[in-house]
Amino acid sequence: MLTVHTIAALRAALPVPGTCTFVPTMGNLHEGHLALVRQAAAHGLPVVVSIFVNRLQFAPHEDFDRYPRTLQRDGELLRPAGCDIVFAPDEHEMYPEPQTFQVHPDPALADILEGHFRPGFYRGVSTVVMKLFNAVQPRVALFGKKDYQQLLVIRRMTQQLALPIVIEAAETSRADDGLALSSRNGYLSAAERAKATELAQALRTLADRFADGVAPLALLEAHALDSLAALGWQPDYLTVRRQTDLSAPAGDEERQGAWVALGAARLGATRLIDNIEFSV
Ligand code: PAF
Repeated sequence: MLTVHTIAALRAALPVPGTCTFVPTMGNLHEGHLALVRQAAAHGLPVVVSIFVNRLQFAPHEDFDRYPRTLQRDGELLRPAGCDIVFAPDEHEMYPEPQTFQVHPDPALADILEGHFRPGFYRGVSTVVMKLFNAVQPRVALFGKKDYQQLLVIRRMTQQLALPIVIEAAETSRADDGLALSSRNGYLSAAERAKATELAQALRTLADRFADGVAPLALLEAHALDSLAALGWQPDYLTVRRQTDLSAPAGDEERQGAWVALGAARLGATRLIDNIEFSV
């Protein structure tokens, strides 16, 4: 496994565009990332994993400075998972000057849900992913469904800008008790970790009640928010949207289709997100 820190070195290692599979990450890797890498390796092309904590997608009050940087350990985990090249640029390599040209994703998709509570987040994500795509020039890029809205934003960007890249989704990896794996789980205290599955449980209940078709969605959402708050969480949103474009159901009579229940909530100082796909 090769580790490179510059775009020039990456291009020298992979001179022909469209000949690798790519997994972008911010490092501090866990089993969920490694599952993505194993899925990437199944394509039979060289696998490139990027490790870059992208300042552009963090608001000033967020955890950019304390986000764990664990490059050596990440490298040890990546080798047996099937990674061929680690691309680990520093900030000067990615942003040698202020990144004044940026990708502005469609607000209908990017300014709702996560984008509403984290303004500018998907502009930061889209910009760095576009730049990473240009550096790596992959044939296939993998994104986890854990960040469901991110997957859809990147898919739409790739399609609208006619990038010659196949975006492949990977299922969310979960701990035995159902908690979606996330680098931010490491911030949880032992007591918080024991409660952390309550978000997935609230989403499951919301999805089941939506599928029952009895109560209006607004009432179900309000109930889900109240229930989670009563357990000591500070929820931002819990909702049901269409899998294809995250649009809301047209009316309370509309229940047939492929849906995703999505939520974000803070437990102590840690903000967690999760989602559950389901069909009615
Ligand atoms: O999902 C992540 O880890 C990040 O948002 C990504 C895609 C690596 C961009 O910084």
